[in-house]
Amino acid sequence: MQSTIILGIESSCDDTSAAVIQDGILLSNVIANQSVHSNYGGVVPELASRAHQINIIPVVHEALKRAGINKNELSAITFTRGPGLLGSLLVGTSFAKGFAQALNIPLIDVNHLQAHVLAHFIREGKPDERHPDYPFLCLLVSGGNSQIVLVKSYNDMEVVGQTIDDAAGEAFDKCAKVMGLPYPGGPHIDRLAKEGNPKAFKLNKPQLPNYNYSFSGLKTSFLYLLRDKTADNPNFISENLADLCASLQSTVIDILMNKLKMAADDFNIQQVAVAGGVSANSALRQAFQDYGKKYGWKIFIPPFAYTTDNAAMIAMTGYLKYQHADFCSISEVPFARVTNKF
Ligand code: KG4
Repeated sequence: MQSTIILGIESSCDDTSAAVIQDGILLSNVIANQSVHSNYGGVVPELASRAHQINIIPVVHEALKRAGINKNELSAITFTRGPGLLGSLLVGTSFAKGFAQALNIPLIDVNHLQAHVLAHFIREGKPDERHPDYPFLCLLVSGGNSQIVLVKSYNDMEVVGQTIDDAAGEAFDKCAKVMGLPYPGGPHIDRLAKEGNPKAFKLNKPQLPNYNYSFSGLKTSFLYLLRDKTADNPNFISENLADLCASLQSTVIDILMNKLKMAADDFNIQQVAVAGGVSANSALRQAFQDYGKKYGWKIFIPPFAYTTDNAAMIAMTGYLKYQHADFCSISEVPFARVTNKF
């Protein structure tokens, strides 16, 4: 039987990535990060698009080389169509369209958030690899999104809860910024929190009735705490950095896990996964382990490489769509905004 070989391309934000999957097994996953944004405290869209233009060809070339695959062996090209920064998406989309046309092979569009969820199906060929069965719940937490997704199949996912303001990663990054930590602040908070007391400071938790999240009240209460305390003691932040990080982190995780537990109970689902950049957080990963033990959940935590943006998850999603001949036309265009179904 002929192999199915998929090239995946990801360019939704500030990482240019390409990956190759052969018959469901990942052969390569190359990521070029963009250091250009670190001076600005966040991603600058115009600079991101320019860097993608520079990176895309070498990254694809390297992914094919590491996979040991010739471009003429590819079965299809799959790319992130959205949501994301439009200028960034345009680079990957245009490249994918041109490459697929030149090779005369199908083109497959992928929703970036759907791909984060399906990262749990990436296989590296190791014997102990496991993946969730449908239906399962996925907590999707990144710099731009915080959602609880009910996953009914590879192409049928419903967002049952989501943030009404900031995302969890955004809350980490913004609070880190006011403490003077570099961007992105999430990993720094994670590291510093290890030495701190999570009960040192009490911070606001939102009272929303459904599965939706809100992090803006927490962010404001954190800001006011720093403002009031530094008025009395200008060294308050540096003297309490670890406790501040630990308290903030534990509040964010409580908020995330409480709603997830509520959804798992209401939908009667015992398989629970986590995905997105914030799923790299060590305390969140621990909370998943603890909830798994306490409530009998079968939990799924992705390897670190597949938590942040990567093309392996795009190639995996493309591989699943390829099985169903779920191709797209050359006239599809990227989209920026998050949708409620994917
Ligand atoms: O999915 P992702 O790579 O892309 C965006 O949505 O932009 O997520 C990035 C987010 C950032 O907010 C970053 O601070 C957060 O994930 N993050 C973390 C950790 N690692 C990355 N947050 C908390 N703890 C971490 N270890």
